[in-house]
Amino acid sequence: MLSLRPTSEADLPLLLAWRHNRRVVQYFADGFEIWEHHKRWFASLMPLVAESYVIILDERPVGETHIAWGNGIPDIGLYIGDLSIWGEGIGKEAISLLLANLRARYRGRVTATIHPSNFHSRMLFKGVGFKFSALKDDKYLVFEMSLEEVNGQP
Ligand SMILES: CC(C)(COP(=O)(O)OP(=O)(O)OC[C@H]1O[C@@H](n2cnc3c(N)ncnc32)[C@H](O)[C@@H]1OP(=O)(O)O)[C@@H](O)C(=O)NCCC(=O)NCCS
Repeated sequence: MLSLRPTSEADLPLLLAWRHNRRVVQYFADGFEIWEHHKRWFASLMPLVAESYVIILDERPVGETHIAWGNGIPDIGLYIGDLSIWGEGIGKEAISLLLANLRARYRGRVTATIHPSNFHSRMLFKGVGFKFSALKDDKYLVFEMSLEEVNGQP
């Protein structure tokens, strides 16, 4: 069973270890993290700025997913830190859970900003209903959907 729970300070060493894997961060704008940056990132988390959740599979943490509210439009992202379970639908299910959580308190546009070479991420977001909407910084693909469309519910 998959669930999400808010990230706590105790999760930081595990998240940082995941973020030290080149395959996990190769398409991230901020790439590798160091401990001080990661602590600062955690301290900066607050509702309506950014939220982070640990993805739990059968009581085991396997990844992280987040919402950044930078310009008032939620931008979401994720990583599965356990590479041995990539391709098993965990990412897609985690994003569906995150969208259901978000939809309970927000209606409107939601975006995902994706490196053009990140095929799996593009497929994942298209698979839950996102569509390409714009280029960011002449490089990243911004995908978008309306939360009215989550699970086809009005
Ligand atoms: C991108 C990422 C989160 C995908 O997670 P995942 O659990 O492997 O993804 P899923 O198994 O849910 O697959 C989602 C879609 O990707 C595609 N996909 C995944 N693995 C695939 C594979 N091995 N071959 C082909 N397509 C694949 C499929 O289209 C799948 O949708 P479908 O099953 O409906 O066809 C994961 O690869 C990851 O953590 N990557 C590094 C971090 C990252 O790039 N995050 C995204 C930043 S925007």
